[in-house]
Amino acid sequence: MVKAWYMDSETTDQRLEHHKNPPEFISLEDLFKKTGVEYFKLNVETYATDGVLDKLKKERGYTYEDEMACSKECLPNYEEKIKSFFTEHLHTDEEIRFILDGSGYFDVRDGADQWIRIAVGAGDMIVIPSGIYHRFTLDTNNYIRAKRFFIGEPVWLPYNRPADEMPARKEYIDKLQKGFVAAAC
Ligand code: LAC
Ligand code: NI
Repeated sequence: MVKAWYMDSETTDQRLEHHKNPPEFISLEDLFKKTGVEYFKLNVETYATDGVLDKLKKERGYTYEDEMACSKECLPNYEEKIKSFFTEHLHTDEEIRFILDGSGYFDVRDGADQWIRIAVGAGDMIVIPSGIYHRFTLDTNNYIRAKRFFIGEPVWLPYNRPADEMPARKEYIDKLQKGFVAAAC
C-alpha cells in the first residue's frame, strides 16, 4: 500500500524513510490537494486485460509507453542516473509511473516547500504534475521496475532547480494557488 509522509531534513542516506519524529503521514487525498500528485491503484496480475489501465490511458491521452528497470545490474550508468534522479528537478510534462515490481520513493515539494516522501510499490501508479519540484530514489531494496507513460512524443528532460521562470513552473504555481481539481471521469 502506498504511503506518504513529511520528511525530516536529513538526507544522509537517501534510501531510508526519513520520517519526521513523530511521523507525520499524509493521506492521498491531502497529497492531491497540497501538490496535485494523483494516485491510481492497479492490479499487477490483471492490468493487461482488466481494462482499468486501458481506460486511464484513453481518458488521459497516454499514447506512448515503455518499461524501465532500475538496479545496479539493469541500469547503464547506474550511479550517475541515481544521482540525477535524486537531484531536485521539474519537467514540462507529467511524470507518469506504474510500478510493476520493486519499490522506491518519489519526493515532492508541497506549497510551503516541505518535502513529502511517497513510498511506491507494485500496483501503484503515480502522476507527478508538470512544473512541480521533485526527485526519485530507490529504497534499500535497490530495485524498481516501472512502466512510463506519455502524451505524444516522450520528453524525459529534467530541469534542475532553480527553474522558477519556466512556463511549466508558473502554470503549476497558478494551479497550486487556485487549488487542484480532480478531473471529472
Ligand atoms: C524522472 C524521475 C526520476 O524524472 O523523477 O525520471
Ligand atoms: Ni522527474
